Formats: sequence, structure tokens, C-alpha cells
Amino acid sequence: MSVLVVEGSQWGDEGKGKITDYLGQYANVVVRSQGGNNAGHTITINGEKFALRSIPSGIFNPKIKNVMANGMVIDPKQMLEELDGLINRGIKEFKLFISNRAHIVLPYHKDLDGAYEDLKGNLKIGTTKRGIGPCYADKINRIGIRMGDFINEESFKKNLSEALLIKNKELEMLGLKQYSVDEIVSEYKEYAKRIKPYVCDTAELLEMEIEKGSNILFEGAQGAMLCIDHGTYPYVTSSSPIGASVPLNAGIAPKYITDVLGICKSYDTRVGEGPFPTEIDGKLANYIREKGHEYGTVTKRPRRVGWLDCVALNYARRVSGINHLSLMLFDVLGGLKEIKICYAYELDGKVTTSFPSTLDELYRVKPLYYTMPGFDEDISNATTFDELPENAKNYIRKIEELTKIKVSMISVGPDRCQTIMLEKLF
Ligand code: IMP
Repeated sequence: MSVLVVEGSQWGDEGKGKITDYLGQYANVVVRSQGGNNAGHTITINGEKFALRSIPSGIFNPKIKNVMANGMVIDPKQMLEELDGLINRGIKEFKLFISNRAHIVLPYHKDLDGAYEDLKGNLKIGTTKRGIGPCYADKINRIGIRMGDFINEESFKKNLSEALLIKNKELEMLGLKQYSVDEIVSEYKEYAKRIKPYVCDTAELLEMEIEKGSNILFEGAQGAMLCIDHGTYPYVTSSSPIGASVPLNAGIAPKYITDVLGICKSYDTRVGEGPFPTEIDGKLANYIREKGHEYGTVTKRPRRVGWLDCVALNYARRVSGINHLSLMLFDVLGGLKEIKICYAYELDGKVTTSFPSTLDELYRVKPLYYTMPGFDEDISNATTFDELPENAKNYIRKIEELTKIKVSMISVGPDRCQTIMLEKLF
């Protein structure tokens, strides 16, 4: 039995979808435990691209059980559209289980997400405007609506009328449209009917799978630096995407987690606002952005690009328990004369390898780099570590030295077969 957490170790968009799909070949269960449709995983299967937002990546394999766990916030309307999109493209046989404790995203969450961002003006977070933050805020405020109540019309009406007592006041104050129970229920009861067959106690299901000795893959969304607790607050998402949050968000005991695989681009990217110490711009950033197709899956925004930041990566290792790395988009660095890698920051004249907690410090740090010779060879067909050019191997060794994490997988292209496996994870 293996319980493997696949976690983004940077600011999201590291290529978790591809690795989950790859490792999914050996998994019995694939679980999404946090976030919602703010995530966007692109998976290429036999040259065909699929974009997933809230549905786990094991959905393409009819043998895999796919779980949307209690820590998620699920937009019923969008989720059904996503599912219908898959069904229309021939994905008709699948196993899907949705937690009765997951929270649901309703229209007012999306309205409020947009309104908060507008009010923040220059200080906006750059959210995906999918209502994620307001939905999690309602969960914490104890006025959220959970899947188990959503699929029971009477409970849905009761919970919604209580929530709207507060939400309508907030909407009114912000000059936004207010909602009636009937208006929402008349539309959403149809979604509830369709979702109901998938709803169950997923924690119970996971315990049964663990007892059976199944291979379970937790598919992270976003990345460690977007963690509500450990990320670059307030420029973060509203949940915790790190390995440590998995037991809580899925209802399993921490002792069952066997490994945490950090997914890490061979450079860094970030979407939305917030500090990004190793950010680069100009021609070099454009080269990497175009070659790596660095545009948001969900919002299509161009991603900000930077050199690999091993101070941040080492911090992610520490707070998340990452013990393996999967190095992604390595082929993208091909053709660069030099590759830089950040090993420390300079802050107020002092060299530090600690990741600062305040925005003020994060905006002031100056990254310190090792400059390494690049490689010109096309590595997209490499299938073993030995086939890589010496300079590429040296870059990988440097990452291992600076982060104290073993590189166990290397991705040299979008397809499943363009994956170099250095260690067995399942
Ligand atoms: P929210 O999750 O929509 O509230 O957005 C908060 C921040 O997290 C924004 O900077 C988003 O761009 C970022 N974010 C949320 N989900 C993802 C993701 O899947 N990949 C990368 N960034 C994300």
C-alpha cells in the first residue's frame, strides 16, 4: 500500500496533472482534497488535450476511483459542465465519489469574489474569480452549505435561507444583487439531482481502500507558496495545498501518508499579484513563456516567469514534508546559454536562506544566483538520466544539493512517454 501526495511546490501550475496522470497508471484511487475549479490541470493523452478544473485526473481510467474530498469547494454547475464535456468527448465510463462534507460554491460567492477584488483596487489578489475565497470564508463563518445538505432539497432550503440572512446584507452593502431562496433552489435543485448519485462519505471509502492496501494518489491543486498559512500571504489561495493538509482535508490519519512528491518546474512561474523574488522579464522571460506555453489554463492570463528559487523550494520542503521532486518542463530550458538558480537571498545587507514571512521583506530581498552553463541539445526524447547532456545533469544535481530533496522524476515534454523515472514511487 502506498499513499502518495502529489503537491505543487511553487506557485501552482507546475504540471501536477501530467504527473498525476502518469502515476495514475499505478493508482487505485485518485483524490482531490482542497481547492475547487480555481485549479486547472491540462492532461495530454495520445496527443489529445484535456483541461480539468475540479474533477480528479484519474477520471480517464475506468478502473480508478476518483474522490472529491471534504476539503474541496465545489461549484455544482461548473462541475457538471466539466463532467458533460468529458462525457461528450467519449469519457463515458468512470468512477466518481463526492464528499458529503465538501462545501458548495453558489452564485453569490462568485459575485463577492469579483466585488472584493474591485474594492481592493491596486491591492487586488488577482484571484480566479471562481468564488473560492468567499466560499471558504462562509465555511469558517459556519454559514456554508455542504454537499450532504445540498442534495436534500429541504435541508438545502433551510441552510440557504439562514445563509442568505447574512449574505444578502453583505451583498446589499456592496451594492450587489441580492438572492432569494427560491431563485437559487429552482436552478440548483436540478444540479443537486444529478450530483446526488456520486455523493457519499468519502473518508469512509478511503479508510476501506487503505485497509485493502490500495495505492492512493492525492492530487494537489495550486502550490505550497499559495498556501493560506505558509504561502506569500495575502497573495495566496484560501486553502492549504500542502501535504500536511491532506489528512484533514480528506479525513484520513496522518500516519497513512507514505510519500510527498513535490512537483517543481525547472524555473518558476506565478499568476496573479504578489511577491516573486526571482522574477525576470524582457526577451528571456518571453522565450521561456512561449516555449513553456505559460498561459493560465483557467484564466488564460500570461504567467510571470522567473529563475528557480531554491530558498522558496527548500521552505516548501520543510513545511510540506516533500521527500521527492518531479522536475517539470526541463526541455524548456534547452537552448539557453546560461541557467541561473537562486541559492539564497540578500536582505538588509545579510545573506539568508530563510523564507521571509512579510510582504515588505519579500519585496526587498535580492536573490543570489549560481550561474550554470546551459545545454543546446534537444532532450525531449531522453528516456534515462544518462541520456541527458552533462550540463543538464549538473543542474539537477545542484537542485538536489540546494533543496536536500531527491529528484525522482524528470519531465521532458507534455506526453506521458516523455517522463524519466529515477525512482519507483508506487
Ligand atoms: P483564488 O484561489 O481564485 O482565490 O486566487 C488566489 C490566488 O491563487 C491568485 O493569485 C490565483 O492566481 C492563484 N491561484 C489559484 N488557483 C491557482 C492554480 O491552480 N494555479 C496557479 N495559481 C492559482
